[in-house]
Amino acid sequence: MEQIQLKKNAPIGVFDSGVGGISVLKELIKIMPRENYIYYGDSLHAPYGTKTLEQVRSLTRAHAEELFQRGAKGLVVACNTATSAAVRVLREEFPQIPIVGIEPAVKPAATCMENPRVLVMATPMTIREEKLKQLIAKYSDRGEIIPLPCPGLMDFVERGDLEGEDLRRYLTELLYEYTIHPVNSVVLGCTHYPFVKDMVQEILGSEVAIFDGGEGTAREMRRRLEEAGLLTDAETEGTVVFDNSLSGEAKEQKIALCRKLLEKK
Ligand code: DGL
Repeated sequence: MEQIQLKKNAPIGVFDSGVGGISVLKELIKIMPRENYIYYGDSLHAPYGTKTLEQVRSLTRAHAEELFQRGAKGLVVACNTATSAAVRVLREEFPQIPIVGIEPAVKPAATCMENPRVLVMATPMTIREEKLKQLIAKYSDRGEIIPLPCPGLMDFVERGDLEGEDLRRYLTELLYEYTIHPVNSVVLGCTHYPFVKDMVQEILGSEVAIFDGGEGTAREMRRRLEEAGLLTDAETEGTVVFDNSLSGEAKEQKIALCRKLLEKK
């Protein structure tokens, strides 16, 4: 890719395998409302969490490059799975562009109380990858940290099912063990999961603390843009452009779901 000229008032690219990254976009807009955003979901190839590392790396790379060609001045990889597979490679390849990934919020969950028992919910790939293993090892002297792969959970969110009976059945079964042997904190280690937080809370109980990495990721992006002198100087509210790898009616429906999720409290 030829040398890119980064512009202050260009949009920030936000990428996920589908609609999950909207949970991170919300946090970005909260702290940088005057920025413009391009949100790109690769729903055509979702889920990423059950693919191989090489597949996720090459999909993420291709979409990142596309966003830079479209003028993005920075990139938030709003997907834990794509971050563990590709963020290091992207930073090597595009060293002049601020690129921020998201990782499961193990640190706050493991350090917010004495002897925590922490459940880390994430996709099978995130759970398998070295990045999370190292993060868990780093905090394992603080308490017990239990990784829980959740294959299929993102699909409920992709369908817009955030409170249906099938979802309740799925989560009740998945989390059954932790209703018998309770945990005191939960990490939502996939950007789709904050949209089912209420149901997780309901099943595990109101005393369980739930964490996700969205806010920290947004703060890191603001820091990186500020450092690079790339924060917008616009004085009015920015815009969000949604795009998706699907086409036709399916694409329109996905974008409508993105808008709905962005508005959800
Ligand atoms: N939203 C993604 C994450 O944060 C993954 C969902 C998927 O494609 O499996 O890990």
